[in-house]
Amino acid sequence: MGSSYLYYSMFLHCMIIVANIYSNNARASDRHLSMDYYQATCPNALEIIRKEMECQVLADPRNAALVLRLHFHDCFVQGCDASVLLDDTITLKGEKTAKNNINSLKGFELIDSIKNRLESECPGVVSCADTLTIAARDAVTLVGGPSWDVPLGRKDSKTAGYDLVGINIPSANEGILSIMAKFIYQGLSVTDMVALSGAHTLGMARCENYRARIYEVFSITSALNPSSHTYLNNLKSTCSPISGASDNNETSLDYATPNLFDNSYYHLLLKGEGLLNSDQLLYSSVFAVKTRKLVEKYALDPIAFFMQFSESMVKLGSIKSLKTFEDGEVRKHCRFINT
Ligand code: HEM
Ligand SMILES: *[C@@H]1O[C@H](CO)[C@@H](O)[C@H](O)[C@H]1NC(C)=O
Repeated sequence: MGSSYLYYSMFLHCMIIVANIYSNNARASDRHLSMDYYQATCPNALEIIRKEMECQVLADPRNAALVLRLHFHDCFVQGCDASVLLDDTITLKGEKTAKNNINSLKGFELIDSIKNRLESECPGVVSCADTLTIAARDAVTLVGGPSWDVPLGRKDSKTAGYDLVGINIPSANEGILSIMAKFIYQGLSVTDMVALSGAHTLGMARCENYRARIYEVFSITSALNPSSHTYLNNLKSTCSPISGASDNNETSLDYATPNLFDNSYYHLLLKGEGLLNSDQLLYSSVFAVKTRKLVEKYALDPIAFFMQFSESMVKLGSIKSLKTFEDGEVRKHCRFINT
């Protein structure tokens, strides 16, 4: 698809209110969630979120990546309950300053602006957790990825899990077995892990997270340096070997098509050009027997990738929050619990 066409059509959508018709083939794995959850209370919710995401992705396609990652980091810490969106207050320590999130998670204001619109249409009805889940789906679709139905009815937490961020969120240099364990712990499979890692077809990473990949020698947690000298030298020019001024310098996770949701991420892995160690090890690790096969499959078969990604996103989005099961709410403002 030509990107100019994509942007042109999104531009039109931002100007005109489009009545989107969503198909309704329910496959909610969580019996607490349902497709028609807001049908009576906020029938335009999906359309409002979609329209706002369209404008945000039109303004900057990177925004699609930011929202998708926020959803992932939300669901891996006490379930999909919008805990990641909470700001620090005197009585609450949010997740934003925890390792793996600090200086790294962005796009909170995008969710704020969607939530504002929802609040003016149907105050106190649509949870921040649902908003983020739908926005992540729309983000993927808007940059050329698949679409899927999102079961709804999540509640927002009244607490955050600062310490759980360090425990549950995988990081770039921790090794494939450890990352696998984190997905299994959440009820996801190795297949889900490989498919969801395809999200790295979008967005950027900071030097801090790929320094080891380009300067360290091969080990259990570090893949062989990128085989292409041009690519390796380009990366080195953005990222000095010593921690300092270049730490937050960013480069695309998928340099081939950074703003398009496609399967080129897997092609890069076949070439040894995954940006993060955690990416490349899916293909190159000695432990990567099953994951390597899946990488090859998704590289060859974009439809298989899209179908698995959709299914895995529904699973990711259905990770239950015990916190909101006991005591959840619909926040008025996604950064703060209701008073
Ligand atoms: C498999 C384990 C994963 C690891 C180790 C990992 C790690 C990372 C790291 C280190 C970054 C760069 C952050 C920075 O430099 O500030 C990143 C970016 C990103 N991740 Fe992951 N990630 C994983 C899985 C996922 C999943 C499952 C998703 C979503 C479904 C996802 C979506 C993204 C996106 C979209 C970005 C780009 C964000 C931006 O442009 O700012 N990641 N990830
Ligand atoms: C950041 O990357 C750019 C190239 O994208 C490079 O010119 C610049 O020197 C880098 N900054 C630092 C502090 O290394």
